[in-house]
Amino acid sequence: MKPKVFVTRKLPDSAAQRLNQVCQADIWQGKLPPPKVEIIQRTRGRDGLLCLLTDPIDREVLDGIGSSLKVISNCAVGYDNIDVDEATRRGIPVGNTPGILTDTTADFAFSLLMSAARRVAEADRYVRDGKWQTWELTLLLGRDIHNATIGIVGFGRIGQAVARRAAGFGMQILYHDPGMKADPLAAELNASYVELDELFRRSDFVSLHVPLNDETHHLIDQEALEKMKKEAILINTSRGGVVDTDALYQALVQGQIAYAALDVTEPEPIPVNHPILARDNVILAPHIASASRETRGRMAMMAVENLVAGLEGEPLPNCVNPQVYNRD
Ligand code: DGY
Repeated sequence: MKPKVFVTRKLPDSAAQRLNQVCQADIWQGKLPPPKVEIIQRTRGRDGLLCLLTDPIDREVLDGIGSSLKVISNCAVGYDNIDVDEATRRGIPVGNTPGILTDTTADFAFSLLMSAARRVAEADRYVRDGKWQTWELTLLLGRDIHNATIGIVGFGRIGQAVARRAAGFGMQILYHDPGMKADPLAAELNASYVELDELFRRSDFVSLHVPLNDETHHLIDQEALEKMKKEAILINTSRGGVVDTDALYQALVQGQIAYAALDVTEPEPIPVNHPILARDNVILAPHIASASRETRGRMAMMAVENLVAGLEGEPLPNCVNPQVYNRD
C-alpha cells in the first residue's frame, strides 16, 4: 500500500506526477494556505507532510498530527515556518530546497537593486499616469550602480551569488557574515569582510541574505537604519521579519535612508492600507525572488524527492536536521 501524505498546495505537473507514483496524496486545492486545523486534521494518521513557507508547522501542529508523521518536506530553502527543534525531538527529518534557487533569487535581488537605483517603478507610473511631457535633463534622476559600494549581509549561497553580480557591475563589495570571514570567493572578488556597523556606514546598497531566526529578527531596526547613509538603498529578499517594517517606514519618511526594495515584508502580505505602500521611494514585490518557471519546478521536484526519501526511511537528500539520524 502506498504511504499517505498531505500536501498543502497544488504542485507543478512533473512534481505532482512523481508524487502520485509513490504516494497516496491528499492535496489542498485552495489558493490560500490551509488553516492550521486543516493541516492537523488532514495530516493526522498520515506518513508525510509537504508544505510551503506559509504553513506554520509548530509544536501545536506536530502535537495535533501525532506520531504517524515520518517526514516533513518544506518547498523552500528557508524553514523558519517550521519548529525544527520540535521535529528533531520527535525524530522527524525536515527537508528543504537549497542550491537550486540561488541564482534565480540573486537575479531578482539584483533586479530590485537596479530598479530602485534607477527608479524603474516610479518611471513606469509616471508614463502610465500621463505625466510625461518631454525629455528633461533632470527627470527621474537615479543613482549609479557601477563604482558604488554594496554591503551584503549574509554571505551564504545567495549572498555570494549577489556578490558575483555586483563584481560584474564594478561595485565595491563589503560583506558581513561571522561564519565566512576568510572566504575564497571574497578574495577572488576583492570583497572585504567588515563588522555590521561599518557595513551600514559605508554601503550605498545594503542587501540582506540571512535566514530568519532569533538573532536576525529585526536586525534592521531603527538603530541600524540610523547608521546607514542618507542615500542608502535597502534590498530585502530574505525574510520580512529581518526588517522592522515600521522603523523602515519612519526612516523612509524622515530621509534617514533613500529607498527600499522589498520582496518580503513583515507582515506578509503587507496590508494594502499600510502607509509604506503610499511611498514613492519603495518598491514592493510579493515574495517572488525564486519565481522563475524552471526554478519553482525544480523546487517542487526536490521537495517531493525529500518527501519520498523520508517515506522510504532513507536520509533526505536535503535535510536541515541531520542529527535525527544520529539518535540512539
Ligand atoms: C525560500 O525558498 O525560502 C524562498 O523564500 C522562496 O523561494
